[in-house]
Amino acid sequence: MVSGSGTNLQAMIDAVNSGIIKSGEICAVISSKEDAYALERAKQNGIACYCVPKKKYSDQMVFEDKLNDILKKEDAELIVLAGFMCVLSAGFVKQYKDRIINVHPSLIPSFCGDGFYGLRVHKAALDYGVKVSGATVHYVNEIIDGGKIILQKAVNVRKGDTPEILQKRIMEQAEWKILPKACEMICVRIIRERKLKK
Ligand code: GAR
Repeated sequence: MVSGSGTNLQAMIDAVNSGIIKSGEICAVISSKEDAYALERAKQNGIACYCVPKKKYSDQMVFEDKLNDILKKEDAELIVLAGFMCVLSAGFVKQYKDRIINVHPSLIPSFCGDGFYGLRVHKAALDYGVKVSGATVHYVNEIIDGGKIILQKAVNVRKGDTPEILQKRIMEQAEWKILPKACEMICVRIIRERKLKK
């Protein structure tokens, strides 16, 4: 699920193509914004894509019903929030326990939670004066950015960094690496669990 430019989605697409992700595939991309470039990336790569505009579906239940319809139709077994800028309700999240992951552009538990998303995260980190930041991939539960951490990678802050410069470095050095890696790890777990159930 995406809302913006989709560079993390691109990292996942590239990882599937290069074999870093080999135990799963991207069955669909759902955007909460009509003009998200991530939708273009999905189309260019022949991936089914859907738009469920948060603006149009302002009622959270209706919004989440739409998401659920698509997830069921596509038989999705893992939901990856790759720059998805909407908060999911506790009810929604509970339906997919340990099956939703998110990439966050800081070292959780720093600079996370309500209101910390996108460039705001990097601005807060620079305002605080941290010398190291990074990215986290974590399970999604009912607490914003509060689920168990799966992978983290630290990135140095440099003198003269702006939020934009730091964001780019964290994406390149951390997010685009740990998100595909976490996807593969969890796909392996899902397959193992499936075999155990048989
Ligand atoms: C990424 O930096 C991602 O970590 C962040 O938004 C950006 C999306 O970029 N997500 C959050 O802040 C979620 N709390 P992308 O659309 O190019 O992948």
